[in-house]
Amino acid sequence: MDKIVVEGGVPLRGSVEVSGAKNAALPVIAASLLAEGDHVVRNVPDLADVRTLGRLLASMGCAVERSARERAVSIQVPPAVTPEATYELVKTMRASVVVLGPLVARWGRARVSLPGGCAIGARPIDQHLKGLAALGADIRLEHGYVEAVAPGGRLRGATFTFDGQTVTGTENVMMAAALADGGSVLRNCAREPEVADLAAALVRMGARIEGAGTDEIRIEGVRSLRPLDHFVIPDRIEAGTFLVAGALPGGDVTVRGCIAAHLEALIEKLRAVGAEISEVKGGLRVVGDGRPRPVDVRTAPHPGFPTDMQAQLMVLLCLAQGSSKITETVFENRFMHVQELQRLGADIAVDGKTAVVKGVEMLSGAPVMASDLRASAALVLAGLAAQGTTEIQRVYHLDRGYERIEEKLAPLGARVRREKA
Ligand code: EPZ
Repeated sequence: MDKIVVEGGVPLRGSVEVSGAKNAALPVIAASLLAEGDHVVRNVPDLADVRTLGRLLASMGCAVERSARERAVSIQVPPAVTPEATYELVKTMRASVVVLGPLVARWGRARVSLPGGCAIGARPIDQHLKGLAALGADIRLEHGYVEAVAPGGRLRGATFTFDGQTVTGTENVMMAAALADGGSVLRNCAREPEVADLAAALVRMGARIEGAGTDEIRIEGVRSLRPLDHFVIPDRIEAGTFLVAGALPGGDVTVRGCIAAHLEALIEKLRAVGAEISEVKGGLRVVGDGRPRPVDVRTAPHPGFPTDMQAQLMVLLCLAQGSSKITETVFENRFMHVQELQRLGADIAVDGKTAVVKGVEMLSGAPVMASDLRASAALVLAGLAAQGTTEIQRVYHLDRGYERIEEKLAPLGARVRREKA
């Protein structure tokens, strides 16, 4: 199994390009199941999760191909698919559940494995199921699978209010409503840019959707959709990770290809810690001064501070001149990186949802273990800031969401390499 080895203590300087967003590409690829024919999704990052979804669609009878040169995934959806997602694939990637809405809406039935546990929290899908049931799906849970059937083969439009904001839940129900008979109003929707990007892709397929990106989405169902051709938005979390890298003491990094409007909550916090951020042609430049100032952060659904940036920002606060408080409100168990950061000399105390981070002058390299995707990214950042060598094991977590991170960091002066363990 590979490991990432970082020789830290060198401030990063230079520019880095952001890839397409994993969390936008996945639902857009799943949306291809809404229409028979030849689909193309462009600006798709070459990541383990994208390959897993490709295998899932292939297992249903679709032909899926990646063109490395064009960074595109093409999907050929045949006249009939096997509307099933098995445990073997779903257990490796929870996001597989986004095939549920398209399958039941287009093919009248779906059998999708329940995802099971997850390192960052319980992550139920009750809201996905309630929303689909509101659209008329008959839902049963049997043998670890969700069996969903649209009576008469069609869902029907409805008004539905989510109990809490869920990104993939909103995506699933929005996709299903796009092919339902009649109009739907979805309330308390997730407002993440990835939801809006999926809606843009659906609209190009012929769907009638308004309000995606706000908490109320209105959908007028159509009889059928045409194949999609969509260019995915840049990855705001990858961009944010590089912004934090640049905000480390002595850094000066330009992140090219990102959308500042998607990063407002992070930019505000980076400015509060003392980093200088400016919009430059084609991206954002961040200059990290001396030691950061402490700041309090509370994660929240978009446009709040993203839970997917909590671990990375914590690294910066580990080096602050003073004490910061981080409150995680989205997932119940997303402080797994704390124990690893402590191995590097960080001073962090966790009490329930809150971590109190007392800044230290210096981190020191050590072997550490990645526990989930964003925790791994945080450990790479910590390794970059630390004196000496940090070895990060279980790199497969990192490879699920960051495309060749070591190759992107190296031109910034980072001494980082991948080794076979
Ligand atoms: C998406 O996960 C992202 N994944 C996650 O990205 C991200 O952390 C998360 O949104 C929050 O921003 C993809 O887009 C593929 P949620 P999702 O449903 O949709 C609770 C990464 O590192 N909830 O918005 O699964 C849930 O338990 C990751 O790239 C219910 O209670 O997250 C959580 O507490 C990991 N019932 C909260 O809502 C439900 O039916 C938000 O989860 C659904 C969710």
